[in-house]
Amino acid sequence: MFKNTLLQALEEAAKEIRRFDEIDFQISEKEGVNNLVTEVDHASEKVIIDVIKTNFPEHQILSEEIGELVQDSQYKWIIDPIDGTVNFAHRIPICAISIGLEHNGEIILGGIYNPYLNEMFLAERGKGATLNDKPIHVSKKASVAKACLVTGFPYTYLDEPNGPLEVFDRFIRRGVPVRRLGSAAIDLAWVACGRFDGFYEHKLQAWDSAAGWLLVEEAGGKVSNLKGERYSPYHPGIIATNGVIHDELTEWVKGNIPQQS
Ligand code: IPD
Ligand code: CA
Ligand code: CA
Repeated sequence: MFKNTLLQALEEAAKEIRRFDEIDFQISEKEGVNNLVTEVDHASEKVIIDVIKTNFPEHQILSEEIGELVQDSQYKWIIDPIDGTVNFAHRIPICAISIGLEHNGEIILGGIYNPYLNEMFLAERGKGATLNDKPIHVSKKASVAKACLVTGFPYTYLDEPNGPLEVFDRFIRRGVPVRRLGSAAIDLAWVACGRFDGFYEHKLQAWDSAAGWLLVEEAGGKVSNLKGERYSPYHPGIIATNGVIHDELTEWVKGNIPQQS
């Protein structure tokens, strides 16, 4: 029942987003520099919330644009109506709808749907992860030096020791490819299906990572904070990997690079 609601919400939001393929939409600015929101983010969010409220009117909701709907329920839907809004606003087809369902503080269901590539990633706790109904698994890459990584940068730059550019510089100087797609949800989904070996980012929100966290874990990978400790989507930093390179990548992110690298 939860899964049907999740699928219905993702599919209806995708239709809403694709409705704007040939027509202009309004774009406005949020806090930070070039932190955009479009009328399509709001339209997608509306259909998702309508679907959830119709099926589970008592559930809590946390959604990027409207914020929090607190109710007396152990269930909370965590929604990013378009992850990768800057891409979307430029008609770059790397963006997704991301929805996670939290129960008593644990994510039990997650879905990430890129309506342009028609890629539907789903994960249910204890039941594995799929891409368009086929099981997916993380990669087997065994070292950071041979890995293909992905990261992202916050809209408001974090000028702090070990900040995003300092860590990025560390990999690039040593020839480790680090991609920057512009959608944390897709970054995580692509770690889950083995396209990337690892992902790290300094400052995410719960709606960016809730569904992707479960996807990576259910595909056999590992997710932690930037120190390698237990992950919480309510704290900013994340490292998500195939599991094999997790400890090594965490050391690189902390600044402890192996001598031979
Ligand atoms: C953003 C994307 C991006 C990440 C930013 C997020 P939005 O989400 O996930 O990859 O680097 O930190 O805010 O604004 O496109 O929903
Ligand atoms: Ca987002
Ligand atoms: Ca968003």
